[in-house]
Amino acid sequence: VAGSEARFGQVFLNLLLNAAQAIPEGDPERNEVRVVVHPLGGLGRVAIDVCDTGTGIAPENRERVFEPFFTTKKADGTGLGLSICHRIVTAAGGTLTAQARHDRGTVFRVILPIVSVADDT
Ligand SMILES: Nc1ncnc2c1ncn2[C@@H]1O[C@H](COP(=O)(O)OP(=O)(O)OP(=O)(O)O)[C@@H](O)[C@H]1O
Ligand SMILES: [Mg+2]
Repeated sequence: VAGSEARFGQVFLNLLLNAAQAIPEGDPERNEVRVVVHPLGGLGRVAIDVCDTGTGIAPENRERVFEPFFTTKKADGTGLGLSICHRIVTAAGGTLTAQARHDRGTVFRVILPIVSVADDT
């Protein structure tokens, strides 16, 4: 993919922090944060999934989490993390979406266009 390494770093740091913060304390054996990267067949795009086994997001909030200042974290959330992630990914020609995991937890999926080496020259 082509884009700013610092900005992509910010996107994945935000997603990983959110994933870790969604997992309740005290049961590490039953929880995981997993990152899965896979090309989307023949479409010139790559998906990066940040998956967690945390609390999940209520269906009515699944779109709202991308709004600036939307937060459910009483103490220290600004609610800006995902709105910034969304802006960076969209500006890079990609998409950022949230899905419920079948079992429990959440998957944030970043899709980015693949830039072939030939395009770079
Ligand atoms: N992996 C996740 N699992 C469950 N809920 C999530 C997850 N990621 C985000 N959320 C929900 O989306 C809200 C907004 O997330 P966002 O990253 O924008 O802000 P925040 O994490 O609350 O604050 P900040 O990013 O400034 O620390 C969170 O408060 C939380 O309710
Ligand atoms: Mg956050």
